[in-house]
Amino acid sequence: MSFTLLRRILTKHKNNISFFKFGKCVRHCQISFLSDAVSFTDRTHTCGSLTGSNVGEKVKLCGWVQYNRGGKFIVIRDWSGITQVIVPTEKVEVQEIVQSLTFESVIEVTGKVLPRPEEEVNPAMATGDLEIDLEEIQVLNKASESLPIPVYDYHKVSEMMRMEYRYMDIRNKQMQRNLRLRSKMMMKIREFLANIHEFVDVETPTLFRRTPGGAKEFIVPSGQPGKFYSLPQSPQQFKQLLMVGGIDRYFQIARCYRDEGSKPDRQPEFTQLDIEMSFVKREGIIKLIEEMMVYSWPEGEPHIQTPFPHLTYDQAMRLYGSDKPDTRFDMKITDITSRCSDGGVELISNQLKTGNGSVVAIKIRDEKKLFSKKKLEDLKTMALKALNDTQTVVIPVRVIEDGSWQSPIAKHMKANVKDEISNDLDLQTGDLAILAAGQCYKPNEVLGKIRLLFADFLESNGVQVREKNVFNFLWVEDFPLFLPKEDGGEGLESAHHPFTDAHPEDRHMLYTQPEKVRGQHYDLVLNGNEVGGGSIRIHDPDVQKYVLEDVLKEDSSQLQHLLKAFTTGCPPHGGIALGLDRLFAIICGAASIRDVIAFPKTQDGKDPMSKAPATVSQAELDSYHIQIKPKSS
Ligand code: AMO
Repeated sequence: MSFTLLRRILTKHKNNISFFKFGKCVRHCQISFLSDAVSFTDRTHTCGSLTGSNVGEKVKLCGWVQYNRGGKFIVIRDWSGITQVIVPTEKVEVQEIVQSLTFESVIEVTGKVLPRPEEEVNPAMATGDLEIDLEEIQVLNKASESLPIPVYDYHKVSEMMRMEYRYMDIRNKQMQRNLRLRSKMMMKIREFLANIHEFVDVETPTLFRRTPGGAKEFIVPSGQPGKFYSLPQSPQQFKQLLMVGGIDRYFQIARCYRDEGSKPDRQPEFTQLDIEMSFVKREGIIKLIEEMMVYSWPEGEPHIQTPFPHLTYDQAMRLYGSDKPDTRFDMKITDITSRCSDGGVELISNQLKTGNGSVVAIKIRDEKKLFSKKKLEDLKTMALKALNDTQTVVIPVRVIEDGSWQSPIAKHMKANVKDEISNDLDLQTGDLAILAAGQCYKPNEVLGKIRLLFADFLESNGVQVREKNVFNFLWVEDFPLFLPKEDGGEGLESAHHPFTDAHPEDRHMLYTQPEKVRGQHYDLVLNGNEVGGGSIRIHDPDVQKYVLEDVLKEDSSQLQHLLKAFTTGCPPHGGIALGLDRLFAIICGAASIRDVIAFPKTQDGKDPMSKAPATVSQAELDSYHIQIKPKSS
């Protein structure tokens, strides 16, 4: 925190100085407000905040009824914790109210704080040595006797039910923790960017027009016949236009929309921390993000070390078979191509004849002998299916007693080649090796997938594979600027997006061999998940037009506004967007990003609570000139 800022805050609150406590100095001097969760409200304390120092005080708490034990005592709960309230037997009117209290009713209780009798102290409860001697009780909202889901046993409820009754689900401890951690970290991020580094928080439109490239967009009808808005998949163009506008440093906590198949780490609407800077190089963006992470990292979580390691795309693909490697465990891929060209196995040597073929292998220590023949076959099939790969050859090898191989290729492979491979992989008796032969990065990708499936399988059988309680950040860079189309169609598509500039060392090939050009694109990976991506942008209108029209075969007229802007004085610029839902899900240890989003959608894009998407009346459709096609049978 800058001293100017510190002075400004202290001056503003000089009459209220006791309100501050100084946090420990980590990298920046941190200042935090003493927690105050009750001012402006009708209570004296939250339900988890009473301590021994409150004994003897008259307090007023508000919250939900967690337990009601036969009218003798109740437990009241809010986000901060729980407190036990003793109900006096002699007060008939109080007894009557308590007797009829249902779980999850919202109540207000007033009473004196008492120490609990020694034999009743509950060390597992933060307020376990206290209780409130109830004097007055008011039922603020009576909950129904048959509640749709329980709150404190939330893990026993299906996720569908949790989403349908999200307003109740949010009351559970885990959701409360996740949403509060998210809010705190976002505040620190804003503070770091806006207050310390002069970034400007600018909101950009969410009703935009269809633009080429990238994910499928949601469209929104307009009142003009045949004209539609598109919901932006990210504020990419706007943030670049803000650089043309001289904003210099922009950020936004931006809502983005992508109509793409939902996976556990995807949502149709999600939140990005979107950043753009003028006059910056890749190293500048990387340093900014690392410093921001350290500054905003939640207290109590294992520390993170900067600088984060870097891998090139090529290294990541070769060693881990993925552009988002999970570096919490080893099991790296070894290239054994040079051993195999004349190894005696036709199935393998055939793959090498094309000139683009390779043979790679991973080793797995199977000390508990968990992998049966069938399990290996199943995992192999799963990996190939996930990658839609029908070409790559995958062969398991088990090393038996005398170091010899048990494998479908054991008889055919030359003995010296087997020895060399055993040596390369340091294979010991009992070890498993998986060999894959195929084209380009394909065999690496298959082993990359198998590597993860094997780790999951071992962990589900009690073998610890991934390092626990670590946050392994990693930068992946030097991606190809263009890749063959994912759908198998002819031509190239952008590896990141069409606005990414070429690597300075490869720029000369942009017009002759675009497929060989690396881009100035970088991804931030955390524990095997892509949590961010960005690039240095093209700011020359001719280069941008060439990339759109000649390389990507896109209609550049849809981007006239951007191309025009680049002719009006455009600074060189670059940026990044972090997927906040993914980032928070990993920090919170959540199984899905839905657990860090207050009101998420299901995998198929529905909201079970409000039942969105919903039908609209014919009159509304008419006003948008829309006709629904009958379902084809
Ligand atoms: P990109 O498309 O890589 O880059 O997105 C940035 C980050 O957003 C997250 N993300 C998602 N999170 C949840 N659900 C989704 N459907 C989803 N899609 C993406 C990922 C990803 O790393 N405009 C560029 C950034 C830039 O170039 O500055 C962009 O959006 O964590």
